[in-house]
Amino acid sequence: MAKLTKPQMKAHNEALRILRKDRLTDDERDYVFTNFHPGTEHMNGAAGAFFTPPSLANDATIGVSGRVLDLCAGIGTLAAHVHWGSQYDHSKRTSLDVTCVEINPRYVEIGRKLCPWANWINADIFKLNPSKLGRFDWVISNPPFGTVSRTGNAPRYSGRHFDLHVLDIAAEYSDYAAFILPAMSAPFKYSGNRFYERLENSRGAEYERHTGAMLQPHVGIDCTVYKDDWKDVSPAIEVVEADFSSIQRNALARLEGSQQLDLLAAE
Ligand SMILES: C[S@@+](CC[C@H](N)C(=O)[O-])C[C@H]1O[C@@H](n2cnc3c(N)ncnc32)[C@H](O)[C@@H]1O
Repeated sequence: MAKLTKPQMKAHNEALRILRKDRLTDDERDYVFTNFHPGTEHMNGAAGAFFTPPSLANDATIGVSGRVLDLCAGIGTLAAHVHWGSQYDHSKRTSLDVTCVEINPRYVEIGRKLCPWANWINADIFKLNPSKLGRFDWVISNPPFGTVSRTGNAPRYSGRHFDLHVLDIAAEYSDYAAFILPAMSAPFKYSGNRFYERLENSRGAEYERHTGAMLQPHVGIDCTVYKDDWKDVSPAIEVVEADFSSIQRNALARLEGSQQLDLLAAE
């Protein structure tokens, strides 16, 4: 379990007191997102449960609207910021419909209190049925990073990195996704760099070549700004926007290409 300083423990206990209330104000919700510490109740390292700092969640969800799926939602930090972001725009406010999927029942319980406007599903993302949930305009996620244990594989990715499994699962639900990913999983370096730099030898570039997905920086966020806002960690990350619209087409093109080769060989 994480060791908290006295002020952190005091703030965490205040968050727990707020969570016992029947109804919460937006200020109280914001207080809980800022001060609830997952490491007090669970081994958050083993589960990859490092919640997104609200400052980053606010920026990472810019432009996300419509029917939205939050995979590995935690207590709903990203979902809440999509909701709050939509409040300034009437067309977005009326059409917003957020579904959160989270494996830990305690986080789902807290999430329902903090984001009562969202649909909460307590489930393992590897066991979801995409045809039951339907299509979404966006998938958002801050997934566990790296080699966290999992119960299955994504359809197109079979490597070691949990975050890329979640990214690949997102393609089953939408053509667009905004993901907080470890910098090593992005096919570019943008944060903390003087300019956008493409990284051809990265896991992200390999994933793009393998699937036909396109990954780029989401609304140009320099994530080094939030480095000190995380609890217990200060990860090197990028906010990655994925365009999956070419996945099927490229798979088909590869198939058509290989059929053409077969035909040529037969001639
Ligand atoms: C890095 S935390 C981020 C939580 C939240 N997205 C946020 O931005 O604060 C990852 C979350 O994924 C959840 N998780 C881990 N494995 C999962 C799985 N197989 N299915 C659904 N959720 C999972 C963890 O319990 C944890 O809450």
